[in-house]
Amino acid sequence: MSQRHALVTGGAGFIGSHLVDTLLARGFDVTVLDCLLPQVHGEAECDAQGWPVYLNPAARRIKGDILDDGVFEGALKGITHLAHLAASVGVGQSMTNIVDYTRNNTMAAAVMLEILSNGNHSVERIAVASSMSIYGEGEYRSARTGQPVVPAARSHQQLESRDWELHSQGEDLEPVPTTEDKLLQPSSIYAVNKRDHEEMFLSVGRALRIPTTALRLFNAYGSRQALSNPYTGVAAIFISRLLNEQPPLVFEDGNQKRDFVHVLDVANAFASVLESERVGWEICNVGSGQAITVCEIAQLLARLLHKNIAPQILNQYRVGDIRHCFADTSRLQRLFGVTPKQDFTTGMSELIDWVQTARRPVDRSLHSMAELQRSRLVI
Ligand SMILES: NC(=O)c1ccc[n+]([C@@H]2O[C@H](COP(=O)([O-])OP(=O)(O)OC[C@H]3O[C@@H](n4cnc5c(N)ncnc54)[C@H](O)[C@@H]3O)[C@@H](O)[C@H]2O)c1
Repeated sequence: MSQRHALVTGGAGFIGSHLVDTLLARGFDVTVLDCLLPQVHGEAECDAQGWPVYLNPAARRIKGDILDDGVFEGALKGITHLAHLAASVGVGQSMTNIVDYTRNNTMAAAVMLEILSNGNHSVERIAVASSMSIYGEGEYRSARTGQPVVPAARSHQQLESRDWELHSQGEDLEPVPTTEDKLLQPSSIYAVNKRDHEEMFLSVGRALRIPTTALRLFNAYGSRQALSNPYTGVAAIFISRLLNEQPPLVFEDGNQKRDFVHVLDVANAFASVLESERVGWEICNVGSGQAITVCEIAQLLARLLHKNIAPQILNQYRVGDIRHCFADTSRLQRLFGVTPKQDFTTGMSELIDWVQTARRPVDRSLHSMAELQRSRLVI
């Protein structure tokens, strides 16, 4: 077998850096292309060139922006496998920085795909990071009949009356695992960007006959997540609050359900998709399949950090948020033989062990909250 060489865009980030480790361990040569966004890397421990110290020294590094077509084209030399993870990642922030997000997430995909379509490359297989956020609400069924129901998004009137759950025609609904066939109803610019970039990669990948898989990631957690970035990663944001002796700020009533998947399970999913011989243009969820409420996460983290601090329930709605969404993970298993392996409690404890060794995070939650309020994005 000729040597496999993977390019990981966003490879200095939280998920990308774990993917780099996994690919190297499986015998790939790996090149990282990352522009080292200050919002992500500003507070992290870096070397003299600005690369995070956790980045695997065996990977080749290119500091550059994927929007710069010359940089991306140069980085593609000798690449057989492309993992595209670089993105601006923040649901709330995307609603105020609309041009930046659309440029970095959607235009960047256009730049990359146009270069791939010119044909001067050796890419055999592509995996791109999509997001559960493109679903909008997850899947539901009637609590009375058990029949599937596709509810309308919660209205302003409903949210203003602090009625947080989904209803349909007077019926209470209960959330069920969300499958890839769910109608896409993105409710933020970030989600619209991720949907567009997923469809762009699948469409051009198919046209160029390069097997391409979009992985719809649920809430990833684990070491190396930027703790001082207030725009993304609910577990990291809560940890930052707790380490600064502040209560985690919880929107709505805290009973909204999410799916927390360990970053090593995400890296394994990417690596397995890239290694697969399957010829296809696929979409797969990457989650744990387990639902946990935001309040439970806040309480668990406080317990693990030995902080006697209860979450602060805001009873407010953040525009773009959905009520419940957790993954049906069966398609990833069926197509690529991948199942989540990491135990949640052990994974969270390991995250806390890492946090104790990382730099003390700066808590910027109130700053991001003030931004949202200024833009009337909190109801
Ligand atoms: N973390 C999650 O829970 C989650 C959930 C769903 C989807 N995703 C997706 O997974 C991917 C990785 O997310 P993450 O949590 O590791 O984010 P991250 O912010 O830790 O990493 C993103 C990396 O991309 C780099 N980057 C951003 N724009 C770039 C550009 N124009 N050129 C080159 N590099 C650039 C950043 O410097 C950073 O190192 C993203 O595409 C994100 O949308 C993440």
